[in-house]
Amino acid sequence: MTKARRLGVHTPVLYAVDHVSHTLTFEYIEGPSIKDIFLDFGMKGVVEEKMADIALQIGDTVGKLYDGGVVHGDLTTSNMLWRTDTNQLVLIDFGLSFVSTLPEDKAVDLYVLERALLSMHSSCGNVMDKILAAYRKSSKQWSATFNKLGQVRLRGRKRTMIG
Ligand SMILES: Nc1ncnc2c1ncn2[C@@H]1O[C@H](COP(=O)(O)OP(=O)(O)OP(=O)(O)O)[C@@H](O)[C@H]1O
Ligand SMILES: [Mg+2]
Repeated sequence: MTKARRLGVHTPVLYAVDHVSHTLTFEYIEGPSIKDIFLDFGMKGVVEEKMADIALQIGDTVGKLYDGGVVHGDLTTSNMLWRTDTNQLVLIDFGLSFVSTLPEDKAVDLYVLERALLSMHSSCGNVMDKILAAYRKSSKQWSATFNKLGQVRLRGRKRTMIG
């Protein structure tokens, strides 16, 4: 999470680490998850301007993370919060994240997001295309990941799930 922050990704501030009680204390982010926003869009209709802003920020976030060699590991809409006062996307839940420069790892990460969007937010239109367009703009290394994503779509994410 600290590494992600250094790359310019918005995350909660880590306030304290307690080695005795095994507790991390984070800044509280005031605002809904992207999951809740998208579920709301699904019920009441998509607010296109807000959707564009969110997709742009997700793509931008992903570009910064991946170019910096960080793979989130659980990239779902529940792990993205929307800070209401500043309209900023805040990424949380780095428990499964790891450092990698492999396009394969990044592509699988994106594939998890794509599946989550398709299964839970199908009535929101093609959000993934908007996210990928923003990712393309924000990343210098996007093409290797994007090409891999095509392969991962064909086979599913299984290879990395073995073992
Ligand atoms: N810093 C924060 N500020 C506000 N709400 C938070 C914050 N961190 C987590 N939450 C809320 O708690 C929920 C769960 O947090 P998190 O994703 O870190 O744990 P988790 O998904 O239960 O963990 P795991 O993925 O290991 O099961 C989030 O979806 C969010 O609603
Ligand atoms: Mg979570």
